[in-house]
Amino acid sequence: MIRLDKYLSDAGVGTRSEVREYCKKGLVTVDGDVCRNFGQKIDSGRMTICFRGNAVLRETDAAVCYMLNKPAGYLCATKDSEAQTVFSLMPDVDTEHFFPIGRLDKDSEGLLFITNDGMLSHKLTSPRMHVPKTYEVWVSGTLTEEELTSLRKGTDIGDNTPCLPAQVTVLRTESTYQLSVEERMKLPSSLPDTIEASHVRITIYEGRYHQVKRMFHANRHEVFRLKRTAVGALCLDQNLHPGAYRRLTTEELEQLTAGINR
Ligand code: URA
Repeated sequence: MIRLDKYLSDAGVGTRSEVREYCKKGLVTVDGDVCRNFGQKIDSGRMTICFRGNAVLRETDAAVCYMLNKPAGYLCATKDSEAQTVFSLMPDVDTEHFFPIGRLDKDSEGLLFITNDGMLSHKLTSPRMHVPKTYEVWVSGTLTEEELTSLRKGTDIGDNTPCLPAQVTVLRTESTYQLSVEERMKLPSSLPDTIEASHVRITIYEGRYHQVKRMFHANRHEVFRLKRTAVGALCLDQNLHPGAYRRLTTEELEQLTAGINR
């Protein structure tokens, strides 16, 4: 048995005094119940300790993280009564302990991390960390200088505060882009099958709901394909075909969290 505050600080959640504050604020649960008593003795082998809803690894657990090349059409969830989830692509990975880090929309593709490490997830998704996420997007129309400036300075997408500045590069524009059936379905039916379109790379430093789509929508462009290509310092492995996954190496795990403060 070990004191809850020692367990949390050993697991890297914070210093002893920080984790006591977290407990007092009700951010820590033991087996699903909020635990403000940081001196409580816990059996780390039997109990599930969570910080901000993310499981904190027991000392005996190994931290594992997979990189999945998510295809469009799969939900980022451990289970769903109707839709196929990303776990249906990963039959060897158990949904009791593993979960996706952050979200990609059902119709989005690309880099997704799946882990059993609540602290890793917290580090990568906490709004305070500003971890960069890079996407390639295919959008209707051509972006004007004014629209590029709006994206780069911080687009207002109707939240309380505008988005943080993004890095944006137009990779290609096509005056006659032939939409696939899937792409066609994401656009207003008033548009023809062949449209003017742009392929754009964008890096954002937050993770607001549908953020990239809303940023382009606010600038009068519809996103009809969205693929995440990098998170932090790690890029999607080009050898992973859509639906394939592999475990991150120790070096990659270190790379992923390098430079991210608690
Ligand atoms: N932004 C979006 O709009 N969708 C995603 O899936 C990811 C970022």
